[in-house]
Amino acid sequence: MSGKSVDKLTASEAAKELERLAREIAEHDRHYYLQDAPVVSDADYDALRRRNAEIEARFPDLVRADSPSHRVGAQPSEKFAKVRHAIPMLSLDNAFSDEDVAEFLGRVRRFLGLGAEEDVAVMAEPKIDGLSASLRYEDGVLVQGATRGDGTEGEDITANLRTIADIPLRLSGNPPRVLEVRGEVYMTHKAFAALNRRQEKDGKPVYANPRNSAAGSVRQLDPRITASRALNFFAYAWGEISEMPSDSQHGMLKKFESYGFIVNPLVRRCETLDAVLKFYRGIEARRAKLGYDIDGVVYKVDSLALQERLGFVSRSPRWAIAHKFPAEQAETVIEAIEIQVGRTGKLAPVARLKPVTVGGVVVSNATLHNEDEIARLDARVGDTVVIQRAGDVIPQILRVIPEKRPKASKPYKFPHTCPICGSHAVREVDEKTGKEDVDRRCTGGLICDAQTVERLKYFVARDAFDIEGLGGTLIELFHEQGLLKEPADIFALTEKPRKVAEVLAEHRARLSEERRAAEGKEPVKTKTKAKKKDEGEGKQVENLMTAIEARRTIGLDRLINALGIRHVGETTARLLARHYRSLDAFLSGMKSETVKEDLESIEGIGGVVAEAIFDFFDEPHNVKALDRLLKWLTVTDMAAPAKSSPVSGKTVVFTGTLEKMTRQEAKARAESLGAKVSGSVSAKTDIVVAGPGAGSKLKDAQKHNVQVLDEDGWLKLIGG
Ligand code: IVH
Repeated sequence: MSGKSVDKLTASEAAKELERLAREIAEHDRHYYLQDAPVVSDADYDALRRRNAEIEARFPDLVRADSPSHRVGAQPSEKFAKVRHAIPMLSLDNAFSDEDVAEFLGRVRRFLGLGAEEDVAVMAEPKIDGLSASLRYEDGVLVQGATRGDGTEGEDITANLRTIADIPLRLSGNPPRVLEVRGEVYMTHKAFAALNRRQEKDGKPVYANPRNSAAGSVRQLDPRITASRALNFFAYAWGEISEMPSDSQHGMLKKFESYGFIVNPLVRRCETLDAVLKFYRGIEARRAKLGYDIDGVVYKVDSLALQERLGFVSRSPRWAIAHKFPAEQAETVIEAIEIQVGRTGKLAPVARLKPVTVGGVVVSNATLHNEDEIARLDARVGDTVVIQRAGDVIPQILRVIPEKRPKASKPYKFPHTCPICGSHAVREVDEKTGKEDVDRRCTGGLICDAQTVERLKYFVARDAFDIEGLGGTLIELFHEQGLLKEPADIFALTEKPRKVAEVLAEHRARLSEERRAAEGKEPVKTKTKAKKKDEGEGKQVENLMTAIEARRTIGLDRLINALGIRHVGETTARLLARHYRSLDAFLSGMKSETVKEDLESIEGIGGVVAEAIFDFFDEPHNVKALDRLLKWLTVTDMAAPAKSSPVSGKTVVFTGTLEKMTRQEAKARAESLGAKVSGSVSAKTDIVVAGPGAGSKLKDAQKHNVQVLDEDGWLKLIGG
């Protein structure tokens, strides 16, 4: 960025700079739209735009036809208000083969206790490749529209969604008083091509694919821009509803049509696995001619009563699955193999590829997973390879094309030392099985900078502390500058705003020096740099401090996840938080003599995980670092499950034969009502549900004076 103040610019300097700014901003927009990977911070991007606007204000005659101020470009999503979904917007599990689909239907049958010969009807629906949105209607009037966001919280894009013709502003027919309709906003191939032609003609960035362009279009700050884009909407699901108008998925879709929504015309109710697979093949064959992108077929158990019984596992329903189309492939060359060191010290090999377009997205990296995978593929630098990209997952290398291998090529040698800290990198051997772990890990632990940095990045990530504005780049920068070593240091930043501002200013100056050097220009005088610092960083530092402060109150589940204990991710962290409920209970639990057994008694936590948690708290420096962190925090208890029920917080044991539901269903149901289900009876047990044939557990119950119910008694207690 040029440092010269705008009022000192000559007209010819201004013209030159406007030209450069137009180019640079368009370039950033392209990164944002095409790769969804901006290369500058939002603050830097905003600074470019501001500068452009300032120069234009002083030289209105010089405003260019391709000026960035003619369009609302890639705006950071923080600009929209947040919306909390009354009912979370979930995602779907994936099936990649016919076997996976058969397995899904089998799972459903087993859960419901049905025999192999009993079919469960499903709705099969094309999986539209757009972005999902939730539309809230009250008394038939559209009152709010939101994106999915992280499933719990999305963005308020009501004004933009109102401009989409397929989205009724007022419902027809006889809709429930409160109705949240969910579905997919998408763009047809025709509209996509027309939009890109227009973008190109106007010198604006083109979009990579219809999904990105639909997403980019609904996230415009100016609804007039959204209105100028041809977008469509298919309704396929719902959130909150005051009265259910139907008892089946197909019935709901019919109702949606009667309210004025468009339902995909290809949806079909299928009774058998054969019918489902036939539908899939049919859709696959028609895919190219549909006129819009789909990336698979979704199957949903049709009966809503059965859906209710099946419930959810973590973030996806047990009653639905997405059968994805095979991934897209392309050929390219491995230019280098690099090793990245992760949070747990894992040495992760990454292939740097000659950039190639696969399914509309430019790919230049692919994971090689581990040492064994490289050996299996015999992947070498210089090799031509076939790569595959499926949905949003990291591209994979499928195979090497041996005929295209350069003569001088040599097998790749996997390093036995950490490329970051030089410590030995080893493959651990499992004591029980005697097998080597697939991953080679750096033994440097706390002395390894890569691990320190990755742990900090994990700590601030969305599922953990979710500190807005503190991303990977800043973590690396603050670590490099000695400001960050452990989580507690993040909060200590709030006491050093000046130092933070200085580091940011230097970083920014260095970046622009590099840019100038790359353009072959003279360095900027120091004085101008110092001035810029005061103007630019103030706001960023202030926002950052506020964002960090805001997270000093945190939920127990997020805290546990953020610790980055091996094998403990979001789901396990939630299980732990639900079990212990409060920070005090959790910490004293970790100090208990019987910690491993206690952990293993938690449903969903096995030996390996219990061991990893034990190891973490057995390490004094972990405990000390946690103590230092806790000095900054107020940790809130894990809330009891939303539905308060007669059994929430109670420990329940099922024994004997259940006749009205399978054991798995009984357990899932009890857990969804807030009960803990345990496998053995102790003095801590509250209720034993005993069916015919109950044996020793029933005796234990009597011994400990625990309430015993039969299956009907239990059902009555839980209300059905
Ligand atoms: S149902 C709880 N039906 O796929 C189930 N989703 O991977 C909610 N999608 O976020 C989703 N077409 O954006 C459903 N006919 C369809 C769909 C569909 C596309 C998308 C949707 C969702 C994602 C899940």
